[in-house]
Order: sequence, then structure tokens, then C-alpha cells
Amino acid sequence: MTSKINITSIVILLLSVALACGCKQSSKEKVAADSSKVSVYKEKHRPQFHFTPQANWMNDPNGMFYFEGKYHLFYQYFPDSTVWGPMHWGHAESSDMIHWDHLPIALFPDSIGCIFSGGAIVDNKNTSGFGTDQVPPIIATFTHHDFVGEKAKTNDFQKQSLAYSTDGGVHWEKYKGNPVIPNKEKIKDFRDPKVVWHEATQKWILVLAAYDRVKFYASPNLIDWQFLSDFAIEGDSRLWECPDLFQMKVEGSNEIKWVLIVSIQKEAPNGGTATSYFVGEFDGKKFAADRAKQKWLDWGTDNYAFVTWNNVPADDNRVLGIGWMSNWQYAQVVPTEKWRSAMTLPRELTLLKVENDYQIFSLPVAEFSVLRGQPTLIEKKVVSEKTMLPVSFSPSQAEYDFRIDLDESTASSFDIEFENSAGESYLVGFNRKDGKMYVDRTQSGKQDFSKEFYKDLHHAPINFNKSELHIRLIMDVASVEIFIDNGAVSFTSIFFPSEKYDKVSLSAADGNLLLSESRIYPLNSIE
Ligand code: FRU
Repeated sequence: MTSKINITSIVILLLSVALACGCKQSSKEKVAADSSKVSVYKEKHRPQFHFTPQANWMNDPNGMFYFEGKYHLFYQYFPDSTVWGPMHWGHAESSDMIHWDHLPIALFPDSIGCIFSGGAIVDNKNTSGFGTDQVPPIIATFTHHDFVGEKAKTNDFQKQSLAYSTDGGVHWEKYKGNPVIPNKEKIKDFRDPKVVWHEATQKWILVLAAYDRVKFYASPNLIDWQFLSDFAIEGDSRLWECPDLFQMKVEGSNEIKWVLIVSIQKEAPNGGTATSYFVGEFDGKKFAADRAKQKWLDWGTDNYAFVTWNNVPADDNRVLGIGWMSNWQYAQVVPTEKWRSAMTLPRELTLLKVENDYQIFSLPVAEFSVLRGQPTLIEKKVVSEKTMLPVSFSPSQAEYDFRIDLDESTASSFDIEFENSAGESYLVGFNRKDGKMYVDRTQSGKQDFSKEFYKDLHHAPINFNKSELHIRLIMDVASVEIFIDNGAVSFTSIFFPSEKYDKVSLSAADGNLLLSESRIYPLNSIE
């Protein structure tokens, strides 16, 4: 973490001096949930349908599981400030992953350390013995991070620990024998344990990040862990974080592959941090990737630490996940006042075989469409000059479903542009010659909080070699999530306009753009 951002190191330093014994427990009264009914949804830049903490700092999603009709979401949370600090696990639950109830903080720092990222699983067979056969325990695996050790440079200040809940995830007890995976090799970055059940070997498999690699461990009971193997890639010495391992069925076949997600902490395609994945095989001991290089789960700057939900019912069988909608390059300085960061929309991942290669597609979960209002229909239309789109609702809280007829379009490039009365704009462009889409947020808002944020255009590769391009763009006040061709490319990006964008237009260069029938939906707030 210290290498992450200077402000972080300063905060860490101040706090570690103040807190003599590892991490002091914050007052139990402090909860992520503020029960007062004052709506936070009126605040400037507050997303209207993305998950946000009511107040203070949030980063990675943690410990997600589904149990008895509820999706649980935990998250890295610092209840005392809007910048990163000694981590707790905040908690919320939802029956549709869209509307959330905030719950009390689930895990507080203790004498071993603060509570860094990790996962949670429903131990349906009570292999851990923390529950009963009738009441399966839920086990959270997380990293204990000790600031005192970090300051003293002991290098073994990150260790893996457990907590369990026998009431469906509301109250948690830390395991008395923590840590369950000590850091004997003294690896400075040794964190973010996530567990999956491996049917063939009848073992739990834990994957964690250890600087530029991941490590796998196995256990019959979640308590006693045996080291299995490392997975790394030649020539990549970037810091890896928040791994996730799970199986996926290849669409339209019975083939099953293993997917390993790793978040990469620097030099992602568009700068800073992003989530990547490998597709391959896992035999209960070792992960073997099909390709030497990772692919990007999202090409935008703002989808980090994306991980999946455990225990989604077998008859549902979807792979569901969520990411942190920010980037460590600027997360702590973005201009929101009372809280910092939102999660991405919850997404369903599917695995497709495309030209002899496996590729993950991601789309918002189907439940998301409950937010849609009556759409504005746009008839088939030729665009060349800049053309304002007729929307009778706020363009900054809407879903755009554009179909571009590529056979009939002669334009070499075309743009979707959002503008506001302060003269700021956010532009999504498509360049057929380059085979790319690009996002220009360099003029998207007030520029005084970060140079990094406004510096570059951001790109993603796009396949224009077909008859139709499908662009689905979801805008929520201060973010867009763009899904091209059913999620073949996803692109998440945040921005902070001084005024809400209230105009949207299309334009084309060097020819015409033929827009096939398209739709724009207003989206309700989850307030
Ligand atoms: C990723 C991360 C994790 C760590 C957590 C600390 O964003 O750095 O590796 O556990 O944040 O908040």
C-alpha cells in the first residue's frame, strides 16, 4: 500500500504513530449505516443507482456471497475519513443487487491488525465446524494488516485470517486461532485471500496475491491450509491484488474452464489500476493459463478489484461480480465531499469461444432493467453534422442503446458527446480506421484535483468488421459504463462535471453515420 499513493503513506504514518498496538478498534457505535432519513442522493456527484457508502471512504468489494435470498456485499471501509485509513469491512445486503440496505460494520480492526480485502463462502457442509448441519456457517477470509509491523519493516505484517457468522452474515466472530496462514516467508505484499470449493479434490482452494504472483493453498476445513503452487507470468513484475478463481461454462457448449482474475496495480492499458483475467485449467493444485498474457476485464480506468459472488444458487448458475469504480491514481482526491467511491454496476460474466480463444463478456445483471422508465425511441437516422438527441429526461441518468449500421455508414469516425452549461464535455468516440473507441474526459469537469485524471485519452480495441455495432452506455451522474456488442468490450469511466450534463449529441466525420432504431431509457434512482 505504501507505494500506492503519497497521501496514503502519510495517513498510514500518522495513524501508526497514534495507534500503538497494531490497529485500535473504532467505536462500535460507528456503523456504515446512518439510520437518519436525510437523503444522501441529493449530494453533488452522488450516483443515483450505483452502490455508495452513505459517508466516508470505500475501496474494494469484499466477501460477497448469496444466502437465503440476499446478496451480501462487504467493502473496504474507513469510517473516520474520506481518505483511505485503517480498514474495516462495511456491509450491505440486497435482494436484487440494485437496491441495497446498509448494515452495521461487519469487521473491525483488532490486536492483529486492520481488515484488508478477502472473500467469504457459505460452508454448506459445515466443514469448518463453526456452524451446524442445519445452520451453515459463513466464513470470511481476509488479510490482517499490522501498521506497526509495516512501519518497523518486519515484512511479515500481512497474514490471512478467518471470521465466521452463524446468522447469515450480520454478526461476525473472528477465529481464535488467527492467523490461519502466517507469513513465514516474510512477503511484504501477501494479501486478499479468496476461497472456492474444488469438487474433484473435495477441498477448499484459497488464492491470494503475493506481489507479482498468486499463491494457491488447499484445506479440508478452511482452518488448516497447505501450500500448493504459485502462478506468475514471465516478465510481469507489477503488483497483483485481489485474485479470484472460479469455473465458467463456455456458452453454447458443455466445456468448463477455470478463470483467474487478478487486479493489476500499475500500468494498466489506460494508466493506473485495472482488473485482468486469465482463462485456463486448474487441477486442484496448479493453475495453467491458456495464453501467456492476461486479458482485460474492463478497458476503462475505473473498474478495480472486481470479484465474484459465492454461493449463487445452482439453478441460477450465473457468474456475478462487482468492481470498485475508481483508480488508485486519484481515488483519494476526487471531488466528492462526504463519501469517496462507488461500486460498478453488478455484472454477469459469460465465457465465449471467439476465434479459438476464450473471452469473458460482461454486462449489467438482468435485474438492472427494473430501473428503466419509458424509453425515447430514435427512428432510423442519418447523422453527419452534430445532431442533438431529443431526451425529455436527464441525459446524465440514462441508458443509451445505440445500433450503428456499419454496412451503410461511410463515416471514418463518430462521436457521442455529453455537454453541460459550464462548457464541459465528455466524449465517447469510435474510429473505424484505428479499430478503436476512445474516451475523452480531459474537459469533463473542474480540473483542480488531479493532473493524472485529465491527462490522456483512453482507448479500447473495437471490432468494426461486421454489419452492426451495438453500443450500450449507462450514465449515472458521474460515471459511464459502456458495453460494446453484448459485453465483448466493457469500459468504465468516472468524471466530475461542475454541472450535470444536460445535452447529448451524435456526430460523424468524413461521411455519414447510419443509426438504426435506437432507444434511450431514463433510469430511476435507488434512493
Ligand atoms: C486493493 C488493495 C488490496 C488491499 C486493500 C486495502 O485495492 O490494495 O490489495 O487488501 O486494497 O484497502
